[in-house]
Amino acid sequence: MIKFLDLQKINAVYQEQFQEKLKLVLDKGWFILGDEVKTFERNFANYCGTRHCIGVGNGMDALVLILKGYIELGKLQKGDEVLVPANTYIATILAIIQADLVPILVEPRLETYNLNPDLISSKITHKSKAILVVHLYGQLAEIEAINSLAEQHNLLVIEDAAQAHGAFKNQKSKIKNQKSSIAYSFYPGKNLGALGDAGAITTNDDALAKVIHSIRNYGSEKKYHNEYRGMNSRLDELQAAFLNVKLPYLDTDNNKRILIAKRYLSEIKNDKIILPNSNLSHVFHLFVIRTDNRDALQEYLLQNGIETMIHYPIPPHKQKAFSEWNNQSFPITEKIHKEVLSLPISPIMTIDEVDFVIATLNKY
Ligand SMILES: Cc1ncc(COP(=O)(O)O)c(C=O)c1O
Repeated sequence: MIKFLDLQKINAVYQEQFQEKLKLVLDKGWFILGDEVKTFERNFANYCGTRHCIGVGNGMDALVLILKGYIELGKLQKGDEVLVPANTYIATILAIIQADLVPILVEPRLETYNLNPDLISSKITHKSKAILVVHLYGQLAEIEAINSLAEQHNLLVIEDAAQAHGAFKNQKSKIKNQKSSIAYSFYPGKNLGALGDAGAITTNDDALAKVIHSIRNYGSEKKYHNEYRGMNSRLDELQAAFLNVKLPYLDTDNNKRILIAKRYLSEIKNDKIILPNSNLSHVFHLFVIRTDNRDALQEYLLQNGIETMIHYPIPPHKQKAFSEWNNQSFPITEKIHKEVLSLPISPIMTIDEVDFVIATLNKY
């Protein structure tokens, strides 16, 4: 069986280094916001080319903290509207709601699965204050067009890069100067995955970084002195230690994913299968194909020993949790959710496994 994602194997190569880190942290006896968190924050900021990185509890909290940070700075207010792609993982939308803001769903482009800048304008009202862009599946959204639209309408831009660590690398110069704030998740299955929950925020905005630094820790910089009504969402010291082990390998791992994706893109030849769009910035967190009869293809692959997954089977506006949206129609989003299937892709896949996935799909 070719597993969709083998986390045991992915992490096995780091086992000795993880054990050394565990011993180091145990010997120090400092478990919250210690040296490992500070080191990771410095290293990840350097990796991303930003002035600040703040380690937090998980990717969803990273988004909540950015939004709450802007509220504390007076740049957002309770009830403001935030434009967000209709086809994202639900955490993006939940974060907006948790920050007492109002998500306004916008259709994506069918070709990229990412926000379509042309469809944003018609959704902008006097209450719109921000665009929350998602770089879904590891591919950068059309951030330059979105940034200029945001500038025209005086909107903040917030980025959800939970699936896109390192995706900006080939486009660095283009997004270097933006004032955006970016949320990352280090959920174990991500391109940079911890051994539990973890997340971070990167930004060049000094004021925002300062506020978030405080509100992730009860709104307090000085123990027992609380400047803001904060929350407890700190990057765990041990997770930071494990991430410090793995970060140096992120680019190599992303390149391995890209190589597998290139093979899939050039060697899968089947009229029943629509391959994903590929651009320079894609780090292929997921390799997502589309097909008319998705469930039949998934079953066929399983019968042949290939595990796949669906990202995602039910769009947010059709979830029970959002019953007020259930009657709304987002045809492109619905089509995507009906047709997508994610193939196995990871840095530890062997050449034989990739060959087998390609041959099996070509025989379908
Ligand atoms: C696009 C997107 N946003 C946000 C999140 C939330 O991250 P976490 O699971 O670390 O809270 C995820 C994680 O699955 C995600 O894929």
